[in-house]
Amino acid sequence: MTLAERMARHQQSVDRALDRILPAADQQPSRLHRSMRYTVLAAGKRVRPVLTLICGEIFAAPPAPLVGAGAAVEMVHASSLILDDLPCMDDAAVRRGRPTNHRVFGESTALLAALGLLNMAFATLAALRSPDVPAARAGEAATVLTAAIGSSGLIAGQVVDLESGESVTDLETLEFIHSHKTGRLFIASAELGAILGRARPRERQAVARFAKNLGLAFQITDDLLDATADVATLGKDVRKDKGRTTFATLCGLQGARSLSHELIDHALKALEPLGRRAAPLRDLAETIRDRHA
Ligand code: IPE
Ligand code: IPE
Ligand code: MG
Ligand code: MG
Ligand code: MG
Repeated sequence: MTLAERMARHQQSVDRALDRILPAADQQPSRLHRSMRYTVLAAGKRVRPVLTLICGEIFAAPPAPLVGAGAAVEMVHASSLILDDLPCMDDAAVRRGRPTNHRVFGESTALLAALGLLNMAFATLAALRSPDVPAARAGEAATVLTAAIGSSGLIAGQVVDLESGESVTDLETLEFIHSHKTGRLFIASAELGAILGRARPRERQAVARFAKNLGLAFQITDDLLDATADVATLGKDVRKDKGRTTFATLCGLQGARSLSHELIDHALKALEPLGRRAAPLRDLAETIRDRHA
């Protein structure tokens, strides 16, 4: 199976699960539920849940809980996008090829939809507990995802990103921002697959290391694309973050590009202990390295 076929299959199963899990658009309060569905079900790349599903398949995780975990990851991610776009954050007008959530539903509904999505993600993780997934394993999955997006994870990265703005002058702070606002969720996405597949510690560490490097490379590429591609290609815009320090502004476009390639090499290296089983992850890393949108 090619990576494109594998990704399409995983994207489809996550999309179906999301459609099923999210409250129907006409369920009261309908405006809130339409707002939640609007961003989640829009055309995102689904990179993070695909990472969860590929890792889970490597370790033969039970399929239904694996898809549930992928859906939880995507709901968490979508909630972070709604918040990231708010006027008090990046003040973006376009996301996933459409007007941003707050531009359609208003700021207060967008904010509450993001909270609703987070809550629903954790309910979905709690529901992983089943004959295939003992309570301890479901609990571990929830611990990993909560830590990744908490005030020492994604939220920490977003705060430092917003606070430091243009004043960042060192690579260390930039690395902190990237590894927290983006890297941590990538790591958790991979780990959820490993946890549900009962991977050995060494195997789990390999996919976590892979995801850490992949996540950093992904955010560097994101900054490069934000600086070079247009709204129609990206399906999103950057407003307030224009002028913010990135690897591209600090190292130049070429420097940032080689750094991201270097990180992809590290990611591939991390997979060595997994041997041939890791082939789909290698394909994913190469796709991300060469992405244009
Ligand atoms: C956007 O993520 C936010 C970043 C961390 C760069 P994606 O580029 O994965 O956005 P979607 O999910 O495809 O919309
Ligand atoms: C995104 O960083 C980080 C999170 C949403 C957690 P960006 O602000 O660069 O993402 P885009 O460019 O708006 O997608
Ligand atoms: Mg941002
Ligand atoms: Mg943004
Ligand atoms: Mg960006």
